[in-house]
Amino acid sequence: MAEHRPRCVLAFSGGLDTTVAVHWLTHERGFEVITLSADLGETKDAEELQRRALHAGATAAHVVDAKELFLTNFVWPSLQAGALYQGVYPLATALGRPLIARLLVEVARETGAAAVAHGCTAKGNDQVRFDVAVGALAPALQVVAPLRDWQMGRSEEIAYAAENGLAVRATKESPYSIDANLWGRSVETGVLEDPWVEPPEDAFDWTVDPARAPEAGLVVEVHFEQGLPTRLDGEELAPVDLVTRLNVLAGAHGVGRIDHVEDRLVGIKSRELYEAPAAVVLDFAHREVESLTLARDVLRFKRLVADEWAQLTYDGLWFSALRQSLAAFVGSTQHFVTGDVRLHLRQGAIRLLGRSSPSSLYRRELATYERAEDQFRHQSAEGFLNIFGLPLRTQASIQGNLLEESIPLLKSAPRGIAQGGPPADPADADEP
Ligand code: ARG
Repeated sequence: MAEHRPRCVLAFSGGLDTTVAVHWLTHERGFEVITLSADLGETKDAEELQRRALHAGATAAHVVDAKELFLTNFVWPSLQAGALYQGVYPLATALGRPLIARLLVEVARETGAAAVAHGCTAKGNDQVRFDVAVGALAPALQVVAPLRDWQMGRSEEIAYAAENGLAVRATKESPYSIDANLWGRSVETGVLEDPWVEPPEDAFDWTVDPARAPEAGLVVEVHFEQGLPTRLDGEELAPVDLVTRLNVLAGAHGVGRIDHVEDRLVGIKSRELYEAPAAVVLDFAHREVESLTLARDVLRFKRLVADEWAQLTYDGLWFSALRQSLAAFVGSTQHFVTGDVRLHLRQGAIRLLGRSSPSSLYRRELATYERAEDQFRHQSAEGFLNIFGLPLRTQASIQGNLLEESIPLLKSAPRGIAQGGPPADPADADEP
């Protein structure tokens, strides 16, 4: 009766969880399982992945090279937005999920599947991102999350795999839960669960210990074209090559480590470690080009948008109407964000050496303190300030005695007073 089983497309990583899930969905839930593995930069061996999926009982195993899609459709707009969750996390995992969800939906449509499935647990953000994104793209599709449904812990999963003859990767189990793609590597659990504990070196894979990084550091130059990085040290590079190379270069100098106590959507505070060398460098550099090319009020408003964008992305609302509207705003700000940034990466730190742009709003003849070159109209300052300060003067003259500023501060600060007047007797020159 196999031909009557409903189809389910499972996001498949090849690890223990999703391997067991293929078997479980087939035998406990009666699905015909099709797997989808999206390569966002970490898939080493696509054929091996496909073999594993088929061996576990999948009837077809799709592998999609989604690296470029990931960068151009998800990462680049977020870089332009300047989105960092809680001001620090460049959102690598959070940006990958909506893309995988969208690919799941597309394969489900192609194959006439009734359901999609993912291997996320009930405590994390990733389940939110999958479930909500699939709902936004295909409200009629059922979403199955085996790890939320089955009552197995890790050792039960290993036993289940052994009982059912599933090949589980023989590598030593990492003490951490890790998710990685081109934009960053997320590390959690194990000893990291104590926020007081310094992250051990074995938690890191992309970055060297800053204290052991080369003393001389490295100078890099990034070129942006309308808010997107296109050249590294003068060399034109495709997005995937640029990010891959920058991850290696910056990682070798210990740049890109982030230790974050973050607030999950499900209400839990969680200690997370990230390695995101390219993301950290590009975010830093992009801000510098914007500092030259965007107007003050746009910069300020854009910071609000960045925060909102980060939260929407983190919370799994990538496909919401608000995120799309914000994208229209962000896109409209990037037309002149073209220019170069020169940085010194050294022992975990980024130091700015310089920035330039053909559309720079910086004008030396306005900024300079050299009298001869100065074109700023000094005479206008007085009139400008007369009007700019008018509301405060008005209020002070009418309500001044009620304002906090009417309480003298002088009484509460030690004061020294030196008196002028006729030359003093040299004998008491040192007296105050
Ligand atoms: N806390 C990060 C986030 O919510 C990373 C999650 C990492 N996922 C994982 N399965 N290890 O985006």
